Amino acid sequence: MAAKPTSGALDPSGIPPEERLIVALDVPTAAEARELVGELGDACRFYKIGLELLMTGEYFDLLEWLIGRGKKVFADLKLFDVPNTVEAAVRRLAGRGITFVTVHGNDTMLEAACRAREDLKILAVTALTSLDRGDLEDLGFHTDVSSLVLSRARRALAIGCDGVISSGHEARALRSELGDRILIVVPGIRPVANVDDQKRTVDVEDAFRLGADYIVVGRPIRSHPDPKAEAGRVQQIIRSVFGN
Ligand code: C5P
Repeated sequence: MAAKPTSGALDPSGIPPEERLIVALDVPTAAEARELVGELGDACRFYKIGLELLMTGEYFDLLEWLIGRGKKVFADLKLFDVPNTVEAAVRRLAGRGITFVTVHGNDTMLEAACRAREDLKILAVTALTSLDRGDLEDLGFHTDVSSLVLSRARRALAIGCDGVISSGHEARALRSELGDRILIVVPGIRPVANVDDQKRTVDVEDAFRLGADYIVVGRPIRSHPDPKAEAGRVQQIIRSVFGN
């Protein structure tokens, strides 16, 4: 793909290239999370901690430990509840040094999250990258994935969310319609043909060339025989895409 990235270091967004890779710490214990962070060292500056680690009871200790080591943290909690509860939950998360939190709801939930955000950036989940059209039909959404993602992203922007989570497949349409007014965070990154539960995947270079600001990578790094080397390889691709 020859096109230049539509956002990022070539535009005024100012995101440091090494912060564009977010590694998903989807591991069962905080000890394993710390071990992986130690192993990755300088190859990763930004981590996503989600529901699995929340259930360990050590989530906030780990969060403080990461921030204490100079790492940025994405709290991928996919909040979904009545607006009052979403607002209260976001208020409890604000002021802890977290960079991003995900909210997986309709307009009133997103509005509630934005009211309480303070220093936090609110990312709206558009459609999980593990869902394809058949899965959406099962959930009662009689529309194609792209239309749903675009519609939810438009609403998130109008409400004042800072960004959206979207697959790479929708990133170009989002960027061309919404410009640089919204951050696009793309999970479901796969270096090669895919065999796991992520159905709408793209590779690292394509994700950025299609318009991503950040990518989230989990299994391709965690399951690699040499996670640090793999994270370094991803960082190298990012540097080459953004011309550093
Ligand atoms: O292991 P893998 O690279 O598939 O990890 C992707 C990560 O991104 C997971 O932690 C998953 O929860 C998250 N995610 C996603 N799709 C979304 C939002 C988050 O896959 N729409």
